[in-house]
Amino acid sequence: MDKELGKRKAAEEAATYVEDGMTLGLGTGSTAAHFIDILRDRIAGGWVLRGVPTSEETKRLAVAAGVEIIAPDETTVLDLAVDGADEADPNLNLVKGGGGALLREKIVAAAAKRFIVIADKTKRVAHLGAFPLPVEIDAFAWPLTVARIREALAIHGFAAPGLTLRGGPGARAATDGGNYIVDCALGRIDAPAALNDALCALPGVIETGLFCAMADMAIFGDETGVTVERA
Ligand code: A5P
Repeated sequence: MDKELGKRKAAEEAATYVEDGMTLGLGTGSTAAHFIDILRDRIAGGWVLRGVPTSEETKRLAVAAGVEIIAPDETTVLDLAVDGADEADPNLNLVKGGGGALLREKIVAAAAKRFIVIADKTKRVAHLGAFPLPVEIDAFAWPLTVARIREALAIHGFAAPGLTLRGGPGARAATDGGNYIVDCALGRIDAPAALNDALCALPGVIETGLFCAMADMAIFGDETGVTVERA
């Protein structure tokens, strides 16, 4: 499958939900980059679009496309957030964070009136977990937090998960916010919401890449077109 074409078609379909004057949550990654590229054409045609980017890379792309970058205050309404995913299951639960922007992506998706996920069709899976789950943690005493994550995973039935500090021990921060990421190879996640809750309850854990019951719609593309699934 031509994944880039699939991403492009999904992004084009998502762009049909964008209206002149909207304030957008802008996701991170190669699929979100296609979406921002399409916005460039709308803006060139006279539209005004504002956006909250979820990473420094997305900010750079959005500025180049002509999106007005805003710093949100409590009254800010995000009309629509559009973002990619690493995996999406039939209930539109997601694994995200392959690009390291999971915390900002979750903040923006949770705040948006509508959240649309875009991906090539290979990201649509029967069960989450083949893609290692990113867990964002504070850099302070990170090995202690990894030990707590390992304990919590054991309670949830993952006896010997492969846990990898992104970038390796002593590595620099993996996120724009200065945090570390632990990638958890779990194989199959049967209860994503419960696992997310358990991991987020641990001191030192900032967020997980499990986005449960957040997406309103997912658009999966391939060379022939798109499939749209609604929550
Ligand atoms: C960024 O942190 C991620 O959540 C991305 O949205 C995800 O990894 C999908 O990226 P691609 O669109 O590049 O596959």
